[in-house]
Amino acid sequence: NEGALWGGRFSTGPSPELVELSRSTHFDWQLAGYDLDGSRAHATALAAAGYLTPDELKRMLLALDQLGAGVADGTVTPLDSDEDVHGALERALIDIAGPELGGKLRAGRSRNDQIATLIRLYLLHHAHAISHHVVRLIDAIAAQADQHLGAAMPGRTHLQHAQPVLLSHHLLAHAWPLVRDLERLRDWSQRASVSPYGSGALAGSSLGLDPQLVADELGLSRPAENSIDATASRDVVAEFAFVTSLIGINLSRFSEEIILWNTREFDFVTLHDGYSTGSSIMPQKKNPDIAELARGKSGRLIGNLTGLLATLKGLPLAYNRDLQEDKEPVFDSVQTLEVLLPAFTGMVSSLKFNTPRMAELAPQGFSLATDVAEWLVRAGVPFRDAHEISGALVSHCEKLGIELHEPTDDELVAISPALTPTVREVLTVGGSIASRTGVGGTAPDRVAEQLAELTARVRAI
Ligand code: ARG
Repeated sequence: NEGALWGGRFSTGPSPELVELSRSTHFDWQLAGYDLDGSRAHATALAAAGYLTPDELKRMLLALDQLGAGVADGTVTPLDSDEDVHGALERALIDIAGPELGGKLRAGRSRNDQIATLIRLYLLHHAHAISHHVVRLIDAIAAQADQHLGAAMPGRTHLQHAQPVLLSHHLLAHAWPLVRDLERLRDWSQRASVSPYGSGALAGSSLGLDPQLVADELGLSRPAENSIDATASRDVVAEFAFVTSLIGINLSRFSEEIILWNTREFDFVTLHDGYSTGSSIMPQKKNPDIAELARGKSGRLIGNLTGLLATLKGLPLAYNRDLQEDKEPVFDSVQTLEVLLPAFTGMVSSLKFNTPRMAELAPQGFSLATDVAEWLVRAGVPFRDAHEISGALVSHCEKLGIELHEPTDDELVAISPALTPTVREVLTVGGSIASRTGVGGTAPDRVAEQLAELTARVRAI
């Protein structure tokens, strides 16, 4: 098996079925650039320890650069006989540098420490890109919140009218989980910034290579503490898959509302034509497909996470080939979010809110009943009684088919002597919203404050 990374102790080459099963170049070739970075760092460590002369190092780095150019322009590609990205690159390096020099690079490293390092480099790179996309989405939500600081809407619990809130307040409630996702990615990247290089197959290196040098060259903070752990664990990959799932879930919850808001019955939003789709048969249709794809793809992201966790569950230490199955799920999660997030951001930026409709619905469904109860509390009525009285007012209005501010003074007193006509002062949406001045509340000043705080938090990440 010409060019293979192993074979010395075998009497025959691998069966064709094994080759077919074992090959991973169709997905791990995208790690080639990171593998070359690892090889440059490793060559530097080999030279520092005296295994490559300064001239050999120079020629090795030149050959690696040439190889990198070939990978980039597509002239170097994996062959059917290559098992994985590592084997393909070593074969191609030997084509360029010759077997004498090319054959020296593998000293002191194993594919096990190599791949554990590469997946970290890949994920760190894409965590950065995904964070960027999430920041843009948060900015788009914040811009919509900023534009609608005066607009009220029905706040809901159990999907029922609950209390009026500011539209901005509600929109920002979709932004904060994404801010925490950014913070999660930042915290994760500190844990991920560890270099398994030097761990070898599992037991560590006997060649006296400097692992900190390799870590520095790769922009990682330090070498791994335990070579067995470094080659056998993938919790860093699983944690990344968790954060990407959570981003998907956060988009999905927002999507569900956009889909509802976009129905004829709600009529809260209009989607931009450029961010909606049509029907092949029904000419009138304009569908919220971006939101639906976001909701659907969150299932896929969760699947990637659970698949990976199931792969890891029963594995004994140290490296097992099962670990090769860590890549496709996270590659898919990365690819999914990198396509989904820009489309989602465009949809959010271009949403048009029907604020008169939202304001009209805000006080309906007796959503100011809590304001009545709290007005009574401020007048000295115990909350238990206040709750009862306000409930009786709701029941009265419901029977007559009127709103809370509509009963006559006599009707109010009949429900409770505590219900003096001044209660009507709190029976407006604006009054209700303005009264919620507690931290994180829906009063306009508080919402303006949280908008500023959100922007500052995002800029600090
Ligand atoms: N392709 C493998 C992976 O992705 C790395 C190679 C390790 N192979 C081995 N037989 N030890 O995990």
